[in-house]
Amino acid sequence: MKFYEYMKKHKVINEEDLAFVKEREDDLYADQKYRPHISDRFQLIQEVGKKLYNIEPNSIVYSAHKSFDTLPLNNPDMNRRGLHLFRMIFSRYRFPRDQDTTFDKSGLVIMEDFLKDEFVKLVSEECALYPLITNKQPDNLLVDAQTPGLKHVVVDSPLKEVVLSFIRCKENQSKYHYDDASAKYRRNTFIQRVLNKVDDKDEQKVLHKDIFFPAIKFWYFPDEVKEEYGPFNFVEADMVSEPMLDFFYEQSNMIAIDAWDRSRDRSHPEGSMRIFDHEISDMGLVRKSVAVPANTLVIANVGNFHARGNVTKEWTRNSIHGSIRINEPFRP
Ligand SMILES: [Fe+2]
Repeated sequence: MKFYEYMKKHKVINEEDLAFVKEREDDLYADQKYRPHISDRFQLIQEVGKKLYNIEPNSIVYSAHKSFDTLPLNNPDMNRRGLHLFRMIFSRYRFPRDQDTTFDKSGLVIMEDFLKDEFVKLVSEECALYPLITNKQPDNLLVDAQTPGLKHVVVDSPLKEVVLSFIRCKENQSKYHYDDASAKYRRNTFIQRVLNKVDDKDEQKVLHKDIFFPAIKFWYFPDEVKEEYGPFNFVEADMVSEPMLDFFYEQSNMIAIDAWDRSRDRSHPEGSMRIFDHEISDMGLVRKSVAVPANTLVIANVGNFHARGNVTKEWTRNSIHGSIRINEPFRP
């Protein structure tokens, strides 16, 4: 949904300002022949930001900063005027919406048979030799791997290229974004081993989004992930649909006046907003469990709601896992 269409109903932005936004937002959306040149896209975005919130192009609003811990991100009046929704929606205008892929539209991409057969068992065995750790450490980075299966993933497999393409960081797009994403791919891709226990109160098991703009996390699973092994959980959805915008409008306003529901936990005002399962089902959406066969690459837009799944008995799930959030989410 477009920003101006959504904000109309709250009657907090005057007609003249809404008309100003509409003109620019329609251009950002427009067909090929009317579409502004790529370098003009940020110009249009920041004209809207200036008009509605009096912010400059170098404002933190246009950065990847996600927490509501600083002005103007936690300004109550600006949030009433839709500041958080402005960030959510306009960061999705880096590229024209008709170029959006499944990753942008509903968030989940599953690629089975990802590696050549002869490497799958090798990668599986090599991953099992790594420390039992869920986050990156000096000794579990993929880039440093010297064993043949993992080395193949680094040097010959299309993993990096595939991952970067979903966040529009191809070499032929923007050198700035490509270099930023490449450095993060290198630093943030590691051998993840999740020891998942029944009812462990892991806060990663609560549905949340990581950030307000499309960002990527991926898991290459060399082994089958059955339902009982605690698969990745995901909500496939258009994050700028009206029910979602209602949720984020209300939550951003509650956070800005420090009246947010404390049962959502402290990550909520830090910008990794929590949502309850019943709120998802009330929107007619489902919390899906992504059980996959061996040799599958799972790619998720973590601007969507996701969580770690539950196990029926203790289980260790191995993967090659990575995460990339670009620095400049409003610039093409
Ligand atoms: Fe997350």
